[in-house]
Amino acid sequence: MTAEGTSAAAVDLDPQRLPQHVGIIMDGNGRWANQRGLSRNEGHAAGEQALFDTVEGALELGLRWLTVYAFSTENWRRPPSEVRFLMNFNHDLLRRRADELDERGVRVRFIGGRGRPVPARLVGMIEDTEAKTARHTGMTLQIAFNYGGRAELVDVARRIAADVAEGSLRPERISERTIQDRLYEAGAPDVDLLVRTSGEQRLSNFLMWQSAYAELVFTEVLWPDFDRQHLCAAVAEFQRRQRRFGAV
Ligand code: IPE
Ligand code: IPE
Ligand code: MG
Repeated sequence: MTAEGTSAAAVDLDPQRLPQHVGIIMDGNGRWANQRGLSRNEGHAAGEQALFDTVEGALELGLRWLTVYAFSTENWRRPPSEVRFLMNFNHDLLRRRADELDERGVRVRFIGGRGRPVPARLVGMIEDTEAKTARHTGMTLQIAFNYGGRAELVDVARRIAADVAEGSLRPERISERTIQDRLYEAGAPDVDLLVRTSGEQRLSNFLMWQSAYAELVFTEVLWPDFDRQHLCAAVAEFQRRQRRFGAV
């Protein structure tokens, strides 16, 4: 993760008005590969350096929370060979990169289901990476893996139902805070900037609750071509937006 190209800090951004939490839907790996006569899996592999350059850019900017969508609860519908590749690829990526993330002071957290059919050895690698980087207090990189916004809210509903059943929570006391406190990562601030690459303009079940008031930035850039400068451009766009939150 050595610095390459223009430093993110070179872009004219207001350090006082950075987004607190940036979410990125990393999309377009398959199309990127297709354009080059490569396999879809080679497109996923090419996304690795895009992710790490983006993480480097986020560190340069001083972002505190970055969440990237790596595998959705719907992505199990893909051909078995692609699913298998993605499980192995994410395992190997953590094995190769966990020390580097640790050295860069990045706290890594995974959000999403960890039960079957996620391979046990990948879950083990996820837990090792989280433990290795848990002490860091600078930036948190959340990786949404086997993640779905609706599945997360179903899990929240189950926890609320259990608390009501055992008598520790009264239904009339349920508030937005009750839900927030039971999300996979209760401590994360709302997503205020949500970026999607590859020209698609939809959420695909990403951080539904957390993105309720996010500014949406869509770019035609395919994920393997994304880098820290595109991240800076998205933050610059965010800073040009007027946020109103329902007020006037
Ligand atoms: C995003 O790229 C990666 C994952 C969803 C795992 P895609 O694989 O969706 O690429 P396209 O959308 O087919 O181009
Ligand atoms: C969303 O991309 C999921 C990830 C980027 C991991 P998809 O490519 O799966 O989304 P759809 O199917 O086009 O909505
Ligand atoms: Mg896609």
